[in-house]
Amino acid sequence: MRLQKYLADAQVASRRKAEEMILEGRVSVNGEVITQLGTKVEDGDRVEVDGKKVHPADKLVYIMLHKPEGYVTTAKEQFGRPAVLDLVDCGYRVYPVGRLDYDTSGLLLLTNDGELTYRLTHPKHNVNKTYIAMVEGVPTEDEMKKFSSGLVIDDYKTAPAKISIIKKGKYTALKIIIHEGKNRQVRKMCAAIGHEVKYLKRVSTGKLDLGTLEKGQYRYLTEDEVEYLKSL
Ligand code: URA
Repeated sequence: MRLQKYLADAQVASRRKAEEMILEGRVSVNGEVITQLGTKVEDGDRVEVDGKKVHPADKLVYIMLHKPEGYVTTAKEQFGRPAVLDLVDCGYRVYPVGRLDYDTSGLLLLTNDGELTYRLTHPKHNVNKTYIAMVEGVPTEDEMKKFSSGLVIDDYKTAPAKISIIKKGKYTALKIIIHEGKNRQVRKMCAAIGHEVKYLKRVSTGKLDLGTLEKGQYRYLTEDEVEYLKSL
């Protein structure tokens, strides 16, 4: 196996980042610093990054968590805030696939399969993500058209997104489908059409649905679900 794939499987970094780490001379195999990207490693080789041994997990686990608001999706706690990893006790070091904001709830996948994480979070992957957003006011047809033709947020033109009104009330409930993953994208897109998001929840990723999973609970994906994610 190529060294950069080994490092990605060991959840050290994405393959691209792993390549940078190799070029920076941070990786050694059997005690020898390796700076060649094509280097192959075999079973039994001792691979170290910054002097620490790394190895791919002996079992791959795939988890769906219903993330509550008030948790960060970064692996390490930031500013003492609780992290989603505190909610998962599976005996393996898993990591979130992509992220959800601290104040967003909903479907979050976690795995120790670095290869799958890398593929699903790569910008060229067009996996639809569906959100329910409660916003202030009621978006007009014109505003919704802007949303679906793409908006400029942070100097970036978003890809066309789908938006529909589910329910009107104190706040308007919207169903929003995007396939990009820019920072706070749904919140920024809604703000750009003049409707601040009060509440945001991701209900599906591709054809994987949150279903009846309770907030704060997690479950293991079925084999079919894992196969589906790998086929994307
Ligand atoms: N868009 C947001 O604004 N926040 C999220 O957490 C996900 C998508």
